[in-house]
Formats: sequence, C-alpha cells, structure tokens
Amino acid sequence: MLLLKLKAKKSIRIGKLGTPSFARGYYAYVGSAKKNGYSRLNRHWLEEKKIKWHIDYLREEAKPVALYVFDQEKMGECSLAQILSESFNWVDKFGSSDCNCSSHLYYSQKSRPIRRKLEEQKGLVRVIGPRYQMERRSIMKEHPEKLKLLFERRSIRKYTEEAIPREVLQTILEAGLAAPSASDRRPWHLTVITKREELDALAEANPYGKMLKLAPAAILVSGDQTRMREGAGRDFWIQDCAAVTQNILLAIQALGLGGVWIGQHPVAERKEGAKNVLQLADNLIPFSLISFGYPAETKEARTRLEESQVAWRN
Ligand SMILES: Cc1cc2nc3c(=O)[nH]c(=O)nc-3n(C[C@H](O)[C@H](O)[C@H](O)COP(=O)(O)O)c2cc1C
Repeated sequence: MLLLKLKAKKSIRIGKLGTPSFARGYYAYVGSAKKNGYSRLNRHWLEEKKIKWHIDYLREEAKPVALYVFDQEKMGECSLAQILSESFNWVDKFGSSDCNCSSHLYYSQKSRPIRRKLEEQKGLVRVIGPRYQMERRSIMKEHPEKLKLLFERRSIRKYTEEAIPREVLQTILEAGLAAPSASDRRPWHLTVITKREELDALAEANPYGKMLKLAPAAILVSGDQTRMREGAGRDFWIQDCAAVTQNILLAIQALGLGGVWIGQHPVAERKEGAKNVLQLADNLIPFSLISFGYPAETKEARTRLEESQVAWRN
C-alpha cells in the first residue's frame, strides 16, 4: 500500500485508462507482489524507472509519503481495496484491470483520514514515513551512489514470514566470504540456519536474540581453531570474522533484506547457547549470529560521524 501526495490538481495520462483529472491531495494505492514484495515496494519508491503499471504514471507526478505492507495470506489486496472503497472516492479502474474491484486507487483531500483507516487494519504495518524520505534524500545527495549501501545498512529486527530463496542465501555467503583475512588464513566457518525449531531455540538461548523468533534465516559466523595463526597473531581471527559479518550485513542490505548482528564472542554464555543448539564441532568458536529476513521495519540512512571522534593531523 503506497500513499502518494499530489501537490496540485492535474490531468495525468494513465496509459490506456485515458487522462483522468486528479485533485490535489492524497492517493492510497493498493498493490501486491507474489514474490519479492520488497523489491516491488522499492521500485514504487524510485523516481526513475520504466513505465509499466498505472501507478508508474501517477508516481511521476506524485510523491510517496508512506508505505504499508500487509500479509496477503491474511488480507488480500482486493479486500483492502474494498475497505477503502467504503470511505473514500476512487479513480475508476485504476490498477484493477485484472480483478473485479472498481479501483485500487483511493483519494482523500487530507492524509489523516486515510492513514487512520489504514492504521485501524490489523496486519498492516507502516514501513516508511516522510522522515525517512527526507533524511534519505539529504544523505544520498551528498554521497556517491556506491556508498549508499553503507549508510542504508541498519539493524533490522522485524521480518515478514517470506522465506529466502536458496540462491539468495548462496549470494550472501559468497559476498560474506569475499572479506579480507590476515595472512589470508580465512579461519572461519559459516552455519546457515533456516529450520524454524533451531531459530526458535537460538532465540531462547540468547536474551539479546529474540528477533530470531521472527527471522526466516540466520547465519552463524564461527572462528575455526584449526585454521588460526599461531602465537601473537592468533586473535586476528576476530577481525577476520568481523569483516565477514559486516560483508554479510551489507550483502543482506544490497539484496533488499534486513538483518542484525547478534554478538557471540567473547560472551561465554552466548557462545555456549549457540554451540549447544547447533551441536557445533569443538574446533568452532561462535563469533556472531546474523538474523535476517525480508524487512517489516525500515530505518533512516545515516552516518555516525562525530567530529570529537576524529582527529585530522594536517
Ligand atoms: C559486536 C556487535 C554485537 C551486537 N549484538 C547485538 C545483539 O546481541 N542484539 C541486538 O539486537 N543487536 C546487536 N548488535 C547491533 C547493535 O545494537 C547496532 O549495530 C547498533 O545499535 C547500531 O545500530 P545500527 O546497526 O542500526 O546502525 C550488535 C552489534 C555489534 C557490532
């Protein structure tokens, strides 16, 4: 569900639908995606793209102000359209060429009534608001395209139930293991966890890992003692595993998922918990657990740069 704001009255050509006149105000568009729901949402949010659906024409003129997601198993897009049709006017046949609904686009002069109606619906979660949009815009203007990912990575602890395809998991592993490693020893080992019982047991075993109850997947990054350096350099395994963990978090972000780092090493109880649940081999030391899934929350892009924490030695 995408909420758009149109600043001024305008006639807009909407493909084969013609050129309806749109009043100034707010438009709630109900859409769905059978899979990759989040990439669809991101697509609607983007300004530049190929025009394909009715919403793409409107999106060129109207700015998105909020996104809501809902679980289609619990509430179909047409039932949500029906609910909106009881309280709001609509643009005839917009986005509803493939169903019997009068429309999938509803209008309100002010945003509050429409937001209130949406927020009354159980199972509908607001994921992006105007604040996110603003901060994202200003930070993105100042930084090159390739760095966006770093600013956008945030700890995401709420997920939808959507399972993660095997090839996506494979890509995450490959990205994780592209990390640098001291003397190239690569003293690491990854455990991919997708079994519900194991994810739940890990959540039980760690008071700071409760988000695993919602996660469809997790990866445990462990240090492998059989591959660690001898002597003073032994502890480089910690940096190596940290680099893998951060690579994994960035890959998760890049693929439209969200995740969080759940620290294991050096806290003995946390490590023991993971070892017991997963029956890890003795040579492995749990370093970090990454809980992830398709996000059901979003956070603003940002930096944490504080001048007091930086010294410029000119
Ligand atoms: C070593 C490490 C351990 C962490 N452990 C946990 C944890 O056990 N549970 C959790 O919810 N978040 C954990 N986090 C995530 C931090 O809380 C989070 O990164 C921090 O609040 C900054 O927010 P951001 O990731 O959104 O930028 C951990 C992060 C790091 C780097």
